[in-house]
Amino acid sequence: MDLEKKLAAEASIDFIKDGMVVGLGSGSTVNWMVRKLGEKVKQGLNIRGIPSSKKTERLALEVGVPLTDFASVDCIDIAIDGADEIDGNLNLLKGGGGSLVREKVVDVNADQFIVIIDQSKVVEELGELPLPIEVLQFGWEIIAKKIAELGGETVIRIKDEKRFISDNGNYILDCKFGKITKPEELHEKLKLLTGVVETGIFTNMVDKVIIGRKDEVEVLEK
Ligand code: A5P
Repeated sequence: MDLEKKLAAEASIDFIKDGMVVGLGSGSTVNWMVRKLGEKVKQGLNIRGIPSSKKTERLALEVGVPLTDFASVDCIDIAIDGADEIDGNLNLLKGGGGSLVREKVVDVNADQFIVIIDQSKVVEELGELPLPIEVLQFGWEIIAKKIAELGGETVIRIKDEKRFISDNGNYILDCKFGKITKPEELHEKLKLLTGVVETGIFTNMVDKVIIGRKDEVEVLEK
């Protein structure tokens, strides 16, 4: 699986051109991409990255990828990010690493959005994994009840025996909805709940998917 992630990640580098502002996603697949990008920068590639998590930011700085931010640029030319699930309509479920809000801000504002995954992420319908939903700490208990009324079996995310806190200072609720047949509709209903910051459903955003399959890559276009 690691080799598949690495292959997909490294293949995505071909789409990054000199002068681009690059949205850097989060997760183990993206880490391979960031490391490769660091090598390319050392060889003379001139790009600036916008990281979607503190972890990605740390890695980018470590491997020498120059960074910028939304105060300094008007647009992102290309964003490259991983996913936890992708369905046949290129809808994504994301947030396994807890970075879904910043990932969505970066990915949705990119001219081109490329997803890099290993083949285990391809599903018929989203929802085999629980859906991560970022919520405010204040009132999370009542927000969880409202999510349950929409059919979600909700567990607050725990890490190292403590409640997980996102880069934005919020909690993550992992919510089992069963098969998500209408991702956009579910996302819209959840977003209307006060206290929900963002959901891990990403629809109508993906331009290209690079899938690592054993020792080769498959590229899907929108
Ligand atoms: C992070 O919050 C997620 O959205 C990641 O993009 C996703 O979990 C993919 O992670 P891996 O590349 O580690 O599988």
